[in-house]
Amino acid sequence: MKTIGIIGAGNIGKTVATHLLKNGFSVLISNSKDPESLNETILSLGKGAKAVTAIEAASADMVVLALPWSQVPTLTKITDWTGRIIIDATNHFKPDFQVEDLAGRASSEVVQDYLPGAKLVKAFNTLFFKVLEQNPVTENGHRVLFMSGDDTQAKVQVSEVIEAIGFAPVDLGSLAVGSKLQQAKGLLSTLNLVKF
Ligand SMILES: NC(=O)c1ccc[n+]([C@@H]2O[C@H](COP(=O)([O-])OP(=O)(O)OC[C@H]3O[C@@H](n4cnc5c(N)ncnc54)[C@H](OP(=O)(O)O)[C@@H]3O)[C@@H](O)[C@H]2O)c1
Repeated sequence: MKTIGIIGAGNIGKTVATHLLKNGFSVLISNSKDPESLNETILSLGKGAKAVTAIEAASADMVVLALPWSQVPTLTKITDWTGRIIIDATNHFKPDFQVEDLAGRASSEVVQDYLPGAKLVKAFNTLFFKVLEQNPVTENGHRVLFMSGDDTQAKVQVSEVIEAIGFAPVDLGSLAVGSKLQQAKGLLSTLNLVKF
């Protein structure tokens, strides 16, 4: 799986794209506008990056969600999500930066509802992008990326990508348990660990 779709071309979308490109992946990256609006972004990302519509990015076999929480519902109808591996990097902040009241559910369980049939893995959401963008290989260790999800095979594939770009995946279990730990305001949110 060498081509990865990214929905959202801001701080997190560009940071994840940079790590992927550095390690031989291709990316299809999108925002809410025409692909031409990403010309400068594509120039700075370099070889292997292509600007596409969100619909095209969503058609990759593995897709990273790097858009604002409030925009997740817009994704439901843009493709058939069945069987697609989705890496959910969103945090459930409202535009006023308060977290949304999810009535006790994990944020990725809510995202899963918007993407019926998708195999959702929560990852890339815990670290501030300025930390995430740093070299994941540090002092001979590998920076930890937490992940959680209900589909074991999808987690294996996502952990392979995480390892391929130099991070150390740590599986926190199901969405109901793990996503709650790693999501915004969760116990492991913002924790920057290095695995030796
Ligand atoms: N920033 C961080 O350090 C950080 C860390 C962890 C997790 N996160 C989470 O990651 C997500 C993205 O954060 P960010 O900081 O990267 O935000 P950002 O810099 O504001 O970028 C958001 C991107 O999403 C695009 N977008 C908005 N609505 C869209 C839609 N309907 N379809 C496709 N693309 C759309 C925007 O495109 P336009 O320019 O066209 O609007 C923009 O490229 C959020 O859920 C955030 O909570 C952020």
